[in-house]
Amino acid sequence: MNRTQTITGAFMALSAVALLGAATADAKTVKVDLTAKEVPTVIDNKGTTQMSWTFDGDVPGPVVRVTLGDTVDFTLHNDKANKNSHSIDFHAARVNVLDQFAPIKPGETKHFTFETTKPGVFYYHCGAPNMAQHIARGMFGVIIVDPKKFSKEYPKPDREYVLIQSELYPNVDDVDQIMAGKWSNVVFNGTVLKYDPVHDPNATKTLVAKPGELVRVYFVNAGPNEFSAFHSIAGIWERAYPSGNPENVLYGMQTMTVGPGDAATFDLISPVPGGNAIVTHSLKAALTGAIAVIVFSDDADPAMGRGDNILIR
Ligand code: CU
Ligand code: CU
Repeated sequence: MNRTQTITGAFMALSAVALLGAATADAKTVKVDLTAKEVPTVIDNKGTTQMSWTFDGDVPGPVVRVTLGDTVDFTLHNDKANKNSHSIDFHAARVNVLDQFAPIKPGETKHFTFETTKPGVFYYHCGAPNMAQHIARGMFGVIIVDPKKFSKEYPKPDREYVLIQSELYPNVDDVDQIMAGKWSNVVFNGTVLKYDPVHDPNATKTLVAKPGELVRVYFVNAGPNEFSAFHSIAGIWERAYPSGNPENVLYGMQTMTVGPGDAATFDLISPVPGGNAIVTHSLKAALTGAIAVIVFSDDADPAMGRGDNILIR
């Protein structure tokens, strides 16, 4: 063996060790704590509140984000000031509905772990009875399970946003009204026209990006009852991924149905400055509140659609 072969051999052995190390070291355990809180939350741009049931005091709840293969070490706390039992249902988990997803009483906690086995965008919500009421009152959020790497079919985005569709009901105490689907508004991220200053002069926020940037929208339809016909007015979804799984790639979609309890990921690129209006194209729903404007301009705030700003509060 000459000197070059020796060095090459040693290098290959070293690389193999490094790769093995990476393979075992890159799956993490991620600790997630959520607290059920029964508190008022704002439902429109004027500041009107309703008595909501929430995870951590906000509607939607916090974005939970992990990487495929990670183990989620989860604890649900039911605040002792609450009046109702609550639970968690992670669509990204494969567990026992009668055990991990069972309701707990005020003052109690529930702890369990699960390994993430599919990449994508998954709904989480409270499943305590009446489940429709617990969701209508605001107990929902998203868990994003990122794939281990990007690919040609699932490229790295420049900006990311979370939009969660849900319904508001005139009387959240009225379970019959919720079961009959008699909502007053369909909204994104808990608030009527939250990102639509075109239709609501009180709206102060929009999504933003630069022309040509790849914008990835993680979309959840929390329901509890209405389907979504997810569309970007004046845009075409570059790619859409049912359940957010990079293997489910669809190209050039105009409108995609996302049923209650489902989620999908959408890629959007605007070749021109200006705006798109992201809606459910079921217009009886959109025109009551489910419109989000995205503004494309070269001076788009570089902090938006990144880090903690993927869910705009
Ligand atoms: Cu609940
Ligand atoms: Cu569910």
